[in-house]
Amino acid sequence: MINEKLEKAFNDQINKELYSAYLYLTMKAKFAEMNLNGFVNWFDVQVKEEQAHGMGMYDYVIERGGKIELSAIDKPELKGSTPLEIFEQVLEHEEYVTSRINALMDVAEETKDRAALSFLDWYLKEQVEEESNVGGVLATLKLIGDDKKALLILDKDLAARVFNPPVIG
Ligand code: FEO
Repeated sequence: MINEKLEKAFNDQINKELYSAYLYLTMKAKFAEMNLNGFVNWFDVQVKEEQAHGMGMYDYVIERGGKIELSAIDKPELKGSTPLEIFEQVLEHEEYVTSRINALMDVAEETKDRAALSFLDWYLKEQVEEESNVGGVLATLKLIGDDKKALLILDKDLAARVFNPPVIG
């Protein structure tokens, strides 16, 4: 059985993961407006990953005999409108998610729930990968600057991203 404090922390993180999907859906639409369909694909994969992250925790809470308490998902706000500004926000958001996963692990540690810690290890590694992928795109966008041709080449690259359902835990 999962400790009540840890159960609440998991429920909060499920909300954060689903909010991430919501945020990326907003960004996907913004790139669709710009006719950058490779970016649209990249965000489509990102949305599915966030949904999988949320559902991984959702299933885990149930598996541990805990209770799911879903709360309202905040309205996502874009802080910028250019590809560079949007990716700056993605990186900032992923760094925030990493800090929340760390905080969730602190609660698991505090409640001496080693099984939860072991489960959350996957999320910690996933965050390293997410920050690295996003940081890579952001670095390329900085190099591109105002070069439209180079932006279209990056768009073509991002069209190749595919969603592989993650095996969590
Ligand atoms: Fe689920 Fe992008 O963190």
